[in-house]
Amino acid sequence: MNKITKQSFAIQFMGQHRPKQAVLFSILLRRTAANPSRKLEDMDMIEFRNVSKRYANGTVGLNNVNLKINEGEMVVIVGLSGAGKSTLLRTINKLHDTTSGEILIGGKSVTAARGRELRLIRRGIGMIFQSFNLVKRSTVLRNVLSGRVGYHSTLRTVFGLFPRHDIELALDALSRVNIREKAFSRADQLSGGQQQRVSIARALAQEAKIILADEPVASLDPLTTRQVMDDLKRINQELSITTIVNLHHIDLAREYATRIIGMRAGEIVFDGRPEEATDEAFAHIYGRSIFEAELLGAES
Ligand SMILES: Nc1ncnc2c1ncn2[C@@H]1O[C@H](COP(=O)(O)OP(=O)(O)OP(=O)(O)O)[C@@H](O)[C@H]1O
Ligand SMILES: [Mg+2]
Repeated sequence: MNKITKQSFAIQFMGQHRPKQAVLFSILLRRTAANPSRKLEDMDMIEFRNVSKRYANGTVGLNNVNLKINEGEMVVIVGLSGAGKSTLLRTINKLHDTTSGEILIGGKSVTAARGRELRLIRRGIGMIFQSFNLVKRSTVLRNVLSGRVGYHSTLRTVFGLFPRHDIELALDALSRVNIREKAFSRADQLSGGQQQRVSIARALAQEAKIILADEPVASLDPLTTRQVMDDLKRINQELSITTIVNLHHIDLAREYATRIIGMRAGEIVFDGRPEEATDEAFAHIYGRSIFEAELLGAES
């Protein structure tokens, strides 16, 4: 079962079975649970070495990318549609294979990782998507708990048997994004901004060292956009979680990033501090003058 399927199935199962059954399964499974105690150390720095990605149809997603991202950075990636932002993000946890080159996290090769090693790497990386990727008919708490599936055996999580420690972690995570009181609401009863905070809480419950957010605010209104970006920034600062965010709005990139990376046609064409990302720099990244709407960003 792939990870998203496993998460969804575990959450749905929990919704359909009574606690007594769960306890019985818990006793059974405690004996068979894998021991996931080994932790990946130093999952701090992400390094791309001459990385290229060519899709099956020949399209170039990344062209010889060299990049180092340090622990605790809040990197915003900008570029026109098709520039390669999502491709870059997805190669970091091997959602996309690369064609050549190598990607390292804390000195360990993601490109070479397989099986258990790859699962351990992925466990340390939280993904946040534009569409939230929640199981809408399940509770907020169950969605957040799905961030824990990488720490337990498949059987255990399929039956939704999470230890008390996990539930405490999940509730703490919800507190951090200020929606603790929504823990027992159904996910689809929350606003878009609240749903995105649930997905941030899921990454926190996962104890991710790295958060990859692909257009996390593209579906949100300007006010909610800022709340979600504030959450991401606060978590980045308080927990030193290395955060990489793809964004379309120039103002947001300047306001929230500690570093801005500009992409065009699969290449990095700008890499600098927010104050260096002038209108001229953006015109260079985009290969054309910037539009008013792009400048006004979330304040429009
Ligand atoms: N699965 C795929 N198969 C073939 N080509 C793809 C695939 N995914 C992306 N591409 C192509 O790779 C290039 C980079 O795409 P990518 O999705 O990384 O861009 P992006 O910067 O995230 O764009 P957007 O801002 O629209 O999300 C584009 O030319 C795109 O058409
Ligand atoms: Mg994209």
